[in-house]
Amino acid sequence: MNVGVFGATGQVGTVMLEILAERKFPIEDLRLFASSRSAGRVLNFDGRTITVEDSATAVFDGLDIALFSNGAPTSLELAPIVAQAGAVVIDNSSAWRLDPEVPLVVPEVNASALSEIPKGIVANPNCTTMVVMSALHALDSVWGLRRVVASTYQAVSGAGLEGVRAYQRELDAHGSSLSALTFDGSALDFPAASVFPATIAANVIPFAGSLVGNDTSEELKFVNESRKILGREDLLVSVTCVRVPVFTGHSLSLTVELETEYELDAAIEVLSSAPGVRYCEVPTPLMAAGSDECLVGRVRRDNSAARSLSFFAVGDNLRKGAALNAVQIAECLERMGS
Ligand SMILES: NC(=O)c1ccc[n+]([C@@H]2O[C@H](COP(=O)([O-])OP(=O)(O)OC[C@H]3O[C@@H](n4cnc5c(N)ncnc54)[C@H](OP(=O)(O)O)[C@@H]3O)[C@@H](O)[C@H]2O)c1
Repeated sequence: MNVGVFGATGQVGTVMLEILAERKFPIEDLRLFASSRSAGRVLNFDGRTITVEDSATAVFDGLDIALFSNGAPTSLELAPIVAQAGAVVIDNSSAWRLDPEVPLVVPEVNASALSEIPKGIVANPNCTTMVVMSALHALDSVWGLRRVVASTYQAVSGAGLEGVRAYQRELDAHGSSLSALTFDGSALDFPAASVFPATIAANVIPFAGSLVGNDTSEELKFVNESRKILGREDLLVSVTCVRVPVFTGHSLSLTVELETEYELDAAIEVLSSAPGVRYCEVPTPLMAAGSDECLVGRVRRDNSAARSLSFFAVGDNLRKGAALNAVQIAECLERMGS
């Protein structure tokens, strides 16, 4: 297939290229795009060198699949143009996810939604929601989900390279003090917060994204996207999204109320055998980083309510949370002969 990677110079784009090569996606021609800032840079792909094109001036004829990770504003403008030129766009941004004419797909859960792509655009869910979709779908299929209550622990790389650089800057300013035994972090003088609303080093911030009413954009994404992917518009969902000083790997603490009574051993078995999920007792972001599987663990009965189950889930936000899922969608389309 003729493939275009848009946002090829970014974090997700970089992982996208690794995953396309690792999974031996059948590529005849590969083109790489970014903004004018990076046009002309030369990137390596599977032993070849490819020059990055400026997506604002390029011509897109001949592309079959366009993997987008160039941010929502660019996607809003560019995806219809690239789709019009004949490619199926698989978009990682939030731009199209809730459009009723755009399937929002996690292949392990709702690959059948790819049977209709009216706008030529398929959306990839946000990286936090993605981590638990297969696990929640598995529980829903057996016992029925009634309510999901979650808190997230989101890595700085979820906020793009800017987020990683901001955390790195703060660490660099205090590398030695942070590694010493410091009881009062407030005594440390960090650079002014820039990307995040507060210092992220030695801290946690109960605010991710932007404010929309009383919720944050990240919280609304989790609520709305979970419902759309699971096909459960009636699902009760409550979430608080928190940014933590972790480079890569989004975590979630979840309590779910089920429709029918469950046995704990059976719940562990169902979660462990959900596609793309691996069970481990104490899952951490460091374990998940670089892994294609999402990890679930700390599975236990929640005794504060009937038919309630608590567990912890972790996934690599750049792999399954973005690039891997997009490539898996492309693989589905290739099998379907798109
Ligand atoms: N990070 C995650 O965990 C994650 C997970 C899921 C989805 N996403 C989504 O994926 C997208 C990229 O995230 P990221 O973390 O890879 O960000 P990033 O590292 O900051 O990279 C952004 C990429 O987009 C390109 N770009 C920016 N503005 C552009 C413009 N006006 N025209 C064309 N290209 C432009 C950049 O090119 P230049 O080099 O030219 O600046 C770069 O290649 C975002 O929509 C994000 O929400 C991210």
